[in-house]
Amino acid sequence: MLHQGDLDLSRRDLLMASAATVAVSGVASSARAQAQAQAQAPASAKAAGMPAGETSSVSFKVNGENQTLTLDNRTTLLDALREHLHLTGTKKGCDHGQCGACTVMVDGRRINSCLSLAIMHDGDEVVTIEGLGEPGKLHPMQAAFVKHDGYQCGYCTPGQICSSVAVLEEIKAGIPSHVTGDLTAKTEFSLEEIRERMSGNICRCGAYSNIVDAIADVAGRPA
Ligand code: FES
Ligand code: FES
Repeated sequence: MLHQGDLDLSRRDLLMASAATVAVSGVASSARAQAQAQAQAPASAKAAGMPAGETSSVSFKVNGENQTLTLDNRTTLLDALREHLHLTGTKKGCDHGQCGACTVMVDGRRINSCLSLAIMHDGDEVVTIEGLGEPGKLHPMQAAFVKHDGYQCGYCTPGQICSSVAVLEEIKAGIPSHVTGDLTAKTEFSLEEIRERMSGNICRCGAYSNIVDAIADVAGRPA
């Protein structure tokens, strides 16, 4: 049978248990918030284990213009371009280095801007699709993509074009690829080289053969 004292004890226990539950759920929700923030942070920032909220100043040249930004250290180059400089031509596809939609050129070499922190590019020269050409004054590669129907929805196209321009420079510079037969000989243009070097740029519309035609046209080697 229950006595009054037992009841008091039970009530105290209950209060203590409730307080403990609130404290535990507080810890859980803050852990949840932290996990959520981590999940939303760019892949490269997560990999680097960088803390939230710390900022740095970065100065670089983008499409020929000097830019200085104060950014959260975890900001990717892609987000700096799109969200801070409003250069939305560069696209965010996977945000994990797997689709090539975010390809831009840094100091003449193509990179996936979603995999690179903006603060790593202090002093660098970045070229995006907007810097290559514009309506009425297209870069030869942009014009070739139009001529050869190298796109359908166009989402992957800025990355494809930046990559294509860099690919021709890579071949010209003699940088070998996985399919280059003789590493000691001069690297030659071939459709196989183009397909291999462009394999990091995914096109969901499947415009691949027209993209290769466009690149071959610019290289002066019609497919
Ligand atoms: S968005 Fe960068 S590789 Fe897909
Ligand atoms: S043109 Fe649509 S994804 Fe490539």
